Amino acid sequence: MSVMKGIMTLPFPFESVDVGCEDFGSFSPVNTAKRQTVDLSSEEAVVYSEARPRYPSEWFSMLAALTPQHSVAWDVGTGNGQAAISVAEVYEKVIATDISDEQLKQAIPHPQVQYVHTPLEMSDDELVSLIGGENSVDLITAATAVQWFDLDRFYPIVKRVLRKPGGIIASQSFKIASQCYKTLPFPFESVGVGCEGKPLELDMHKVMSFQGLLKFLSSLPVVHIAKEQGVDLLPEELLKDFERAWGEPESVRTATYKTYMLAGKVKL
Ligand SMILES: C[S@@+](CC[C@H](N)C(=O)[O-])C[C@H]1O[C@@H](n2cnc3c(N)ncnc32)[C@H](O)[C@@H]1O
Repeated sequence: MSVMKGIMTLPFPFESVDVGCEDFGSFSPVNTAKRQTVDLSSEEAVVYSEARPRYPSEWFSMLAALTPQHSVAWDVGTGNGQAAISVAEVYEKVIATDISDEQLKQAIPHPQVQYVHTPLEMSDDELVSLIGGENSVDLITAATAVQWFDLDRFYPIVKRVLRKPGGIIASQSFKIASQCYKTLPFPFESVGVGCEGKPLELDMHKVMSFQGLLKFLSSLPVVHIAKEQGVDLLPEELLKDFERAWGEPESVRTATYKTYMLAGKVKL
């Protein structure tokens, strides 16, 4: 059963914040456009982190097979390092950056992952040098993050730091972002793993109980932000609908999270 598919078809007329968006329409009664993150309590962060799916390691092995060298990777918008720790299985060193210090406080320690706070005020030159300089990075990953970036600023930095030839950037999201990344500008040459306008569709699976689903939904940052604005995104009636759709309350089900990936190399 695709739980997320059910959630994704719900009308959701709010501008995207951190987890999920409808992404077809600009009606925005809750103006959260500038919100990049919401500060969850550490307990909520744990619930969210445990309930969300993990990016399969095979995805990073697939990307690693496309770069000739495996010295340095940059995981940008790393959050708590979900993707960074998997990238570290296939690259010697991962520089994992985020504009949110709060997110980095929850980061999963890993001997090959260096977490660095990169506030928006940091200059492009500073950022490039912090990552290792021009032409130094084998793989850049931006997992469920790039839709938040100022792409006019981000892509030139990517082009500077990626190794040329050989380096690639990969961006994936399990949210409904930029119409499943179909409309996301992605000015890189295809490496056969999704390209501008044609993201590769991948599935992630997560086994969960109904209680697990409820915990996950109530831990979503978007639910907290809406609540702050006086909007209850999980009213009793909706939860009853979910319960009916779930069936036997004790049953454990596999949720499928649709994920979209774009990857490419610098056009020379
Ligand atoms: C939805 S989270 C994804 C975190 C992680 N990559 C994952 O997949 O679990 C998006 C992250 O992007 C970060 N972020 C947003 N804008 C950013 C920017 N301009 N530069 C770096 N990180 C940014 C946020 O702070 C947040 O941690």
